[in-house]
Amino acid sequence: MTLLRVNNLKVHFPVKGGFFKRVVGHVKAVDDVSFELQAGETYGLVGESGSGKSTTGKAIMGLNKITSGEVHFGGKDLASLSRSEFKPYKKDIQMIFQDPYSSLNPKKRLIDIISEPIRNFERMSPTEERRMVQEYLSKVGLPSDAIFKYPHEFSGGQRQRIGIARALTLKPKLIIADEPVSALDVSVQAQVLNFLQDLQKEFNLTYLFIGHDLGVIRHMCTRMGVMYRGRLVEEGTSDEIYENPQHIYTKRLIAAIPDIRPEYREQSVNFRRDVAKEYKESYNTYFDKDGRAFDLQPVSNTHRVALP
Ligand SMILES: Nc1ncnc2c1ncn2[C@@H]1O[C@H](COP(=O)(O)OP(=O)(O)O)[C@@H](O)[C@H]1O
Ligand SMILES: [Mg+2]
Repeated sequence: MTLLRVNNLKVHFPVKGGFFKRVVGHVKAVDDVSFELQAGETYGLVGESGSGKSTTGKAIMGLNKITSGEVHFGGKDLASLSRSEFKPYKKDIQMIFQDPYSSLNPKKRLIDIISEPIRNFERMSPTEERRMVQEYLSKVGLPSDAIFKYPHEFSGGQRQRIGIARALTLKPKLIIADEPVSALDVSVQAQVLNFLQDLQKEFNLTYLFIGHDLGVIRHMCTRMGVMYRGRLVEEGTSDEIYENPQHIYTKRLIAAIPDIRPEYREQSVNFRRDVAKEYKESYNTYFDKDGRAFDLQPVSNTHRVALP
């Protein structure tokens, strides 16, 4: 079952300049992107910083004004809804952010941080609220007496769990995880990733998993889309993307992953050299005269590549 279908999404930000702060141009942060998420899957969006991943996620959440395009979810085009019509869907789609330090209000105790989103939707007595927060804290592996503590009393990994607990209280169907472990120590990254996978099973969640670290994305995702300058340049199963990349930008991303296994060293050095050569010689195969990637064309049932 398709849970989310994004069609021809564009998010263009006006750029103002000069003394009168007139609009002098647009940043095409997301420039005609289409993809689908099946219920229960983890779909990755990868690409370097500035490629438009977060803007895509926020647009789906209704946090960014959409320039054009459609966001189909639960039989509705969310992009066409007014603020009040959108409200019931806000519950279904939650976002987890990269930075567990700045995304939690330092002046609030966990009980208020975690129950804040649900207060917009339900009336609960203080006792009910407290019980609910304790339940979600225990689901994310934190002690129930943590409810009266402040965010600074927790480590980075624990704070990310607090952010996750906060998102879960609304019983969302889709979680947009925007680089959820990028700010964490490598030693706790795997822990949080495994935890996200456990939650997915327990709560039947679908993930849109945003990241720039291809190792992490491969570990988490069944399918992924590769973004470059606001465009999807390739989409496929994780194996297709990693074993058989077709677009030069995907190849460059993969060539940049260091392979430390000695038996693959020569192979990866050769791959890097070939990719650098191809990039120089065949740039025009992959980008039009304005440097814009082409539309995606199917190369198999599951694999699409931006080619002319
Ligand atoms: N609110 C905004 N106003 C203007 N430009 C923005 C805004 N948000 C993002 N951008 C620009 O859009 C582009 C994509 O940003 P973003 O989606 O954050 O990329 P990513 O998450 O892949 O790093 C960048 O050039 C960024 O500077
Ligand atoms: Mg981002």
